[in-house]
Amino acid sequence: MTLSILEKNPRLLVRPVSKQDIPALIGTRVDKKTNRYTGWDHPDTEGWVREMVAEMESKSPGEDGPSGTWYQYAIVDRSTGETAGDIGVGFGIPGPQQAEIGYRLLDSFQGRGLAGEAVGMMVDHLFSERGLHRLTAAVVAPNQPSIRLLEALGFRREGVFRKSFLCDGEWLDDYFYALLNEEWRGARVPRG
Ligand SMILES: CC(C)(COP(=O)(O)OP(=O)(O)OC[C@H]1O[C@@H](n2cnc3c(N)ncnc32)[C@H](O)[C@@H]1OP(=O)(O)O)[C@@H](O)C(=O)NCCC(=O)NCCS
Repeated sequence: MTLSILEKNPRLLVRPVSKQDIPALIGTRVDKKTNRYTGWDHPDTEGWVREMVAEMESKSPGEDGPSGTWYQYAIVDRSTGETAGDIGVGFGIPGPQQAEIGYRLLDSFQGRGLAGEAVGMMVDHLFSERGLHRLTAAVVAPNQPSIRLLEALGFRREGVFRKSFLCDGEWLDDYFYALLNEEWRGARVPRG
């Protein structure tokens, strides 16, 4: 059997969220500082996280549910088995064979290249194994770590929504990034 792209990395594992991820998910999904630039409306209850995990455990990626077609994956540090963060994939957004992605790491795991590797694995999985055509991500102008991460993976800035994101009383520009399957694969096929 072919080993899934999401399991190949010796440093990281990316897999569907499960109950063991709940404490870390409370850190990534509820914490206001982590979510300053995510547009996430701070559900601020442990109960919401538990319901979301139960939903993910009861459906397959791409299926509809209380979170719509969003499916949540955990990023696990293989050296310790700790949950480092999460990646959300909005299947079918904005249309068929497309998906929007979002990602977060606990503060203690940031700045080590983990997010770039994990999101890269997810991008490869979505294009190579699921055959998606186009991926998108929205990122607020001051969120440099996220912008660098997306651009390092080859995402192109397709648009700017001027002063459309309200953050701590300030209107910020929101950048819209996209990457096509052919661009991802083309960048990885040796030429000549
Ligand atoms: C976005 C996020 C996942 C990136 O995590 P990370 O661990 O810093 O990611 P990486 O270590 O892979 O670094 C990504 C890039 O950002 C750069 N970077 C990290 N911290 C930075 C900072 N404070 N300022 C500028 N660049 C920074 C890294 O050098 C790297 O760029 P490089 O590959 O050109 O060197 C993390 O900052 C996070 O969880 N933020 C809160 C949630 C969030 O904003 N999610 C994104 C919503 S669009």
